[in-house]
Amino acid sequence: MNMTEKVIQTLRRRPHVMPAFLTVLVLLACFAGAQDTGALILERCQDCHEMDKSCLVQTSDAQWWQTTVLRMAEYKSELLTADEASAVSAFLADPQKRASVCTPK
Ligand code: HEC
Repeated sequence: MNMTEKVIQTLRRRPHVMPAFLTVLVLLACFAGAQDTGALILERCQDCHEMDKSCLVQTSDAQWWQTTVLRMAEYKSELLTADEASAVSAFLADPQKRASVCTPK
């Protein structure tokens, strides 16, 4: 029996664990998503300049980040898909997440 079957069997037998199970799943997905976006930024945003350009920025204005990231995508059309651009903008507009891709000086 594989992992998925085991989980389904457990949920059938103990339906009350479902909410807890879903919470864990959502948290894991968020965590994985944030990690991916961080990695994506480190991979794609250092072609033309270092991370310092992004890390020196003090604003957490989501609209400013959206505009800036879209301007970067204009410089290089294949840089990011629309979904990636939104994820990257939201990530960089969050001071804690932004700090996670900026090495402390
Ligand atoms: C194709 C080259 C290129 C890529 C790739 C690139 N940038 Fe830039 N970036 C620039 C240039 C050129 C400037 C200076 C001119 C400007 O601000 O538009 C700049 C400036 C910036 C600034 C300063 C803007 C300001 O007004 O202070 C930030 C922040 C920034 N980039 C973030 C990013 C992020 C985040 C990514 C990845 C999504 C990225 N860049 C990818 C070329 C690039």
